[in-house]
Amino acid sequence: MSDVDNSGMSPPSHRFLPALPLSELPEEGGKAVRVEGRVIAVFRWQGKLYAIDDRCPHAGASLAPGRIVDGTVVCPWHAWRFRLCDGAWADHPKIKVQTYPVQVRDGMVYVGLPEDSQQP
Ligand code: FES
Repeated sequence: MSDVDNSGMSPPSHRFLPALPLSELPEEGGKAVRVEGRVIAVFRWQGKLYAIDDRCPHAGASLAPGRIVDGTVVCPWHAWRFRLCDGAWADHPKIKVQTYPVQVRDGMVYVGLPEDSQQP
């Protein structure tokens, strides 16, 4: 599938690095990937891709296996909900997990890390 295009979300100040083949991403779900030492949860929902930090800020659960409900991922441990579009906790939007822009090229999902981020 090559028609997923979130390139409009891709500011030029990011380095896009390969994360996983698009074919390995569930149609309506997520998968955790390691990109330059960061663990990032990549989701596909309603034909679009999203990437957020995989670690829940409450107690550290992986967000990737969480259910997606109305554009939020529900943490598997205590059900905090984070918006896929901006990483905000739905019940208290001042608390956020980091989001990353996503691109798909030649069947591969790329995640954009900030240009100034350090390589481990
Ligand atoms: S660890 Fe995510 S809600 Fe508690």
